[in-house]
Amino acid sequence: QLISELKKLRKQITEMEKTKTKLNKANIVVQEALEYAESIVETVRESLIVIDADLRVISANRSFYKTFKVTQEEIKGQLLYELSNRQWDIPKLRELLEDILPKNTMFADFEVEQDFKNIGQRTMLLNARRIYREANKKQMILLAIEDITDRKRIEEKARKIHQELVEAHENLQKAYKEEKNLRDKLIQSEKLASLGLMGAKIAHEINNPLSVISGRAQMGMDMDTSEKVKKTFNIIFKEAKRIGNISSTYRNLSRPTPPKMENVNMNEILEECVENLETTGVIKHYEVKKYLQPNLPEVTGDRERLIQVFNNLIVNASHAMIDKEVKILTLESSVSKDSKFVEVSVKDTGCGIKKEKIEKIFEIYYTTKPDGLGTGLGLVVVKDIIEKQHKGRILVESEVNKGTTFTIKLPIKRKAKSKILIVDDDAYIRELFTDYFERKGLDVFEAQNGKEALQYYESIQPDIILSDVQMPVMDGFELAEKVRAKNPEQKIFLMTGLYFEHDIMKKLEKSNIKHFTNPPDFSVVWKMISEELKR
Ligand SMILES: Nc1ncnc2c1ncn2[C@@H]1O[C@H](COP(=O)(O)OP(=O)(O)OP(=O)(O)O)[C@@H](O)[C@H]1O
Ligand SMILES: [Mg+2]
Repeated sequence: QLISELKKLRKQITEMEKTKTKLNKANIVVQEALEYAESIVETVRESLIVIDADLRVISANRSFYKTFKVTQEEIKGQLLYELSNRQWDIPKLRELLEDILPKNTMFADFEVEQDFKNIGQRTMLLNARRIYREANKKQMILLAIEDITDRKRIEEKARKIHQELVEAHENLQKAYKEEKNLRDKLIQSEKLASLGLMGAKIAHEINNPLSVISGRAQMGMDMDTSEKVKKTFNIIFKEAKRIGNISSTYRNLSRPTPPKMENVNMNEILEECVENLETTGVIKHYEVKKYLQPNLPEVTGDRERLIQVFNNLIVNASHAMIDKEVKILTLESSVSKDSKFVEVSVKDTGCGIKKEKIEKIFEIYYTTKPDGLGTGLGLVVVKDIIEKQHKGRILVESEVNKGTTFTIKLPIKRKAKSKILIVDDDAYIRELFTDYFERKGLDVFEAQNGKEALQYYESIQPDIILSDVQMPVMDGFELAEKVRAKNPEQKIFLMTGLYFEHDIMKKLEKSNIKHFTNPPDFSVVWKMISEELKR
């Protein structure tokens, strides 16, 4: 029995030994796993720190000590927020950390950018999660901190480079567009120049025969023949004139002669144009409506060339309406809302122009007309005359199958206001004259005495000076003398209330300067001044 007991015992021992070996093995595996984990923790570049439920530091890895330049002794058992000048005491971080254990949450990629103790301005990226140890039922937080300062810097640089690249690309595109525009313009002007050259040659060649035709036609008009024949000669004469105009247009495209500027009334230009086109038969079988604003302000322009502009526009309008049932030509003139331009529009009920072609119509040789009817030059000439020679603008509105409106805007001639300088030491008198002359539409300037008037004289360049005689510092006589020394043509009036002072009046009479006495009779004063201004 003993033996059997012994055997049993031995068996048990063997079992136990087996279990022990198994346990040992397991222990080794655990140990190894731990070491493995620890070696990972120690070698990762991220800084890791473990804190307990009270947010006190349990441990940290090598990278943490290295990155934040602290030692284990300095931080172990400390509250996280109290470390390194409370640099982790950030309200939002506190909130996040305090939520992790009770709510079993985690957070990722919380960015902290600040001046860190020992290491300076840096950007750190924080990740945190709960770790739970079954053995001692302990809850902890693992905080992983990554220094992303360099990465951010590089990212920022990359962003900037990208931005610059985008801008460079845009600039390049802009430059390309400009270059193309320039090239197009160059081609245009080359075309114009060669055209002009050719035109000049042709014009020269046809000039002599044209003179003969024109001369003979004029003689024919004076001959003793029937009215019918005379009328025919008249037509020949007018058409010859037209040819002359056309050939001079060609010449002007390359070597434009300066326009002959004069004051013109656009209503008259329109009327003349319509009359011409009616006699030459361009305007035929269709209605012309005219809405011309009476008393239209004048513009400065070259009569002949402006007539040519509307000729070209009306001829185009007539062509556009050829196949249309409704043919109405509307001519309108008005003053622009801002009162700066006279606007004249030519409106037709023709075929219209497609949107994408509107830009094209001003290009040289662009025409949709069959040979003989159009050369594609009309609007080139219009644009040149209006924009280059008259500083005006052209607007086009068009709707296919409805019609087209060309609006020409020409700057209204502004009369520069006459400038008057009032010199008087009495502020009320100055105010009185200023009010009066401003109402008369003059530009009024004031000075308190002769010296002040002289000081501003050059910059004001008054058309007329109206000065008191007796003033402190410098009186009216001295002012007149000094001003005349600068500009003998200067118009100047003296005025005085001291008509009872014999000496002054005598001096005034002798001085040969126009004068009147105060209080002023404005109707007399204005008569004198306005006459002087007209001279
Ligand atoms: N009122 C209009 N309605 C419709 N299309 C128009 C009108 N005016 C101009 N166009 C279009 O613009 C083109 C260019 O006009 P432009 O006056 O420059 O040349 P053109 O009339 O063809 O020839 P020309 O040199 O004899 O004037 C015309 O061929 C036509 O297609
Ligand atoms: Mg034309």
